[in-house]
Amino acid sequence: MSEVPNMPTSPEEPDAIPVAPVLGEIETLVRARYPLIAILSWEEERVMTNLFRLADKLDKHLMEWSITRGLLRYRAHVPTQAEGRKGTKDPLAVLKSILDLSEPSIVVLKDFENYLKDSAVRRGLRDLALALRFTYTSVIILAPPFSIPRELDKDITLVDFPLPTMEELDDLLRRIEVEVDENPEYNITKGAEERHRLLEAAMGLTLAEAENVFAKTLVKTGRLGGDQVPEVFSEKRQIVRKSGLLEYVDVKESLDDIGGLVGLKEWLAERNLAFTDKAREFGLPPPKGLLLLGVQGCGKSLSAKAIASLYRMPLLRLDMGAIFGSYVGESESRIRQALQLAQGVSPCVLWIDEIDKGLGGLRGSGSGDSGTTQRVFGTLVTWMQENTRPVFVAATANNISVLPPEIMRKGRFDEIFFVDLPEAPTREQIFGIHLQRVGRDPQKIDCARLAEMTSGFSGAEIEAAVVSGLFRALHAGRDLETKDIAKAIEQTFPLSFTMREEIEGIRNWAKGRARPAA
Ligand SMILES: Nc1ncnc2c1ncn2[C@@H]1O[C@H](COP(=O)(O)OP(=O)(O)O)[C@@H](O)[C@H]1O
Ligand SMILES: [Mg+2]
Repeated sequence: MSEVPNMPTSPEEPDAIPVAPVLGEIETLVRARYPLIAILSWEEERVMTNLFRLADKLDKHLMEWSITRGLLRYRAHVPTQAEGRKGTKDPLAVLKSILDLSEPSIVVLKDFENYLKDSAVRRGLRDLALALRFTYTSVIILAPPFSIPRELDKDITLVDFPLPTMEELDDLLRRIEVEVDENPEYNITKGAEERHRLLEAAMGLTLAEAENVFAKTLVKTGRLGGDQVPEVFSEKRQIVRKSGLLEYVDVKESLDDIGGLVGLKEWLAERNLAFTDKAREFGLPPPKGLLLLGVQGCGKSLSAKAIASLYRMPLLRLDMGAIFGSYVGESESRIRQALQLAQGVSPCVLWIDEIDKGLGGLRGSGSGDSGTTQRVFGTLVTWMQENTRPVFVAATANNISVLPPEIMRKGRFDEIFFVDLPEAPTREQIFGIHLQRVGRDPQKIDCARLAEMTSGFSGAEIEAAVVSGLFRALHAGRDLETKDIAKAIEQTFPLSFTMREEIEGIRNWAKGRARPAA
C-alpha cells in the first residue's frame, strides 16, 4: 500500500467552502455589536475559516491572538512561526491593545478560557466589553466547551458551534476526490446513494476527524464506497467512545421483549412513523423524548433500548455519572459537549440512563453543589426545547426526589411514564419471554402458577429466578421443570419487600404527575 494521500487544506477562496449554518447567528451578534462572544467548538480551523468569511462579508479585519504569537491579522495560510504585534502576548496586555485597533475587527482569542482564572484578566475583559460597545470591534473567545465564570455571565454571549453538516462533509469528500483524482489506486464512489450513506456514517465527527477516517479507509481498502460504510461507522464509534461521555450501545431488544407496559407500548406504536419524511410532510414536529421513572428492575432500561430498535436509530448512552463526576465547573461543559455530539450523530436515540445518578451523592456530600445540578439540567432542558435535529431523548430515573422540578415540567419531555411492579398477568408474560430466551417452551412450564407466587417481584427478579431454576435442573441432570423455578422463587427476597416505603413514595408522587406505563 502506498502512503496516505495528500489531504486538502482550506481553500484560498473563502467563498469556496460551505458555510456552517450557525454563522448567521454569529453575524447577527456581531452586527448588533455584542462585544464579547464565546464560541464553543473543538474545531479551531473550521471556525476560523468560517469567521474569515464573515469578516470578509462585513468588511472587518479578522485578528487572532494566542499566547505564543500575540495578536496578528489572520490569513488562511500563515506559517505558525509568524509573530504578532509587539508586546501583545500577555493576556492582560492584549485586552488593552484591542482598544487601539484602528480598523473595525473581529478579534479571536484562542485558549483564553485558561486565563480567566486570573481575576485581573476577568476585570480587564469586563472593562473591554464596556469600551467596545461604542466601536465596531467584537471579541470572540474560541474554546472547547468551558464554563464561563459567574461574574462574566452577563457580558459574554455563548454560541455553540455545531459539528459539520452533511453539506460540509460532502464538500470535504469532493475535495478529497479532486486530490486523489490522478491516482488510479484510489477510487471514490460516484453513486449518490452510496455517498449519502458514507456521509451519514461520518456525521458526528469533526471535519478533521472525518478527513482522517476517510483517508485511513481509502488507504486501507483503496476505495470509498458503499462497502466502506461499516468501516467508517466503526471508526466513528471508537472516536465517540473516546470522548468518555457517550457510548454506542448495540441493540437486540424490541418491544416484543417487554412484558406488560402496554400504555407505553401503545404510545410508542402510535408514533412509529414519528421520524419519517411522511410525518414531517404531515406537519408533525419530531418527538423530543420520554422520561421513564419508577421501580428498579421493571424494564425502564429495556424500554429505552426497544425504542431505538422501533425507530431504527442508533442508541447512544450518556453517562450522567461521568457528567457529574468531573471537576467543579466541568459538568456543564461536558453536558454541552455530549449534546453537541448527539446532535451531530442524529438521527439517534439519546439514552440518559439513571438521570438521577450522581445527584444524591452531590447533595449528600455536603460539598455544596453550588448550582451545578441546576446548570446541567438547565442546559439539557434548554437544549431539548431548542434542538431541531432528530434526537429522541429516552431518560430513566429510579429516584425522582433528587431531580430538579423543572425537568418534570410539562412540555420538556413529551410524556412522563411511571413504571410499576408487574401485576400477575404481566408476570406470567415475563416468565414466557425469559423462558423463550433460554430456548424453553413456555407451554411446558406452569407460568400462571409461577406468576401467582411472585407478587412483588420485578421483571429482573423473575428473570433471575428462571436462571437459578436452570442451574438447579442442570445440577439434577434433567431439563427445566416448574418446580425448579418455584424453588428459586421461594429463596428470593424481592427488593420491593425491603423498599416498600420508597416504592410507596414514588407511587404517590407519580399519581397525577406521570402516566402509568402499564
Ligand atoms: N417488563 C419486563 N419484561 C421483560 N423483561 C424484563 C421486564 N422488566 C425487567 N426485565 C428484565 O430485567 C432486566 C433488567 O431490567 P431493566 O430494564 O434494566 O430495569 P430498570 O427498570 O431498572 O432499568 C431486563 O434486561 C430484562 O431482562
Ligand atoms: Mg435501568
